[in-house]
Amino acid sequence: MKAYVDSTKCSGYGTCADACPSVFELDEWGYAATRDDGLVPAGEEERARTAASGCPENAIRIED
Ligand code: F3S
Repeated sequence: MKAYVDSTKCSGYGTCADACPSVFELDEWGYAATRDDGLVPAGEEERARTAASGCPENAIRIED
């Protein structure tokens, strides 16, 4: 599973990094980026999906 952040949509809400810190981190301006090329570690799939569905800007895409 991989996660992608559309940086043109991200407004820096930051909830993704709270919901799934193993996949998402925030840069110094508070915008999201993925760790490890967006690769979702085993066992973190549900958190990654929660992060995606919780993004107010719908900026996160998850691919199985
Ligand atoms: Fe950006 Fe959405 Fe995360 S707006 S900081 S990708 S919750």
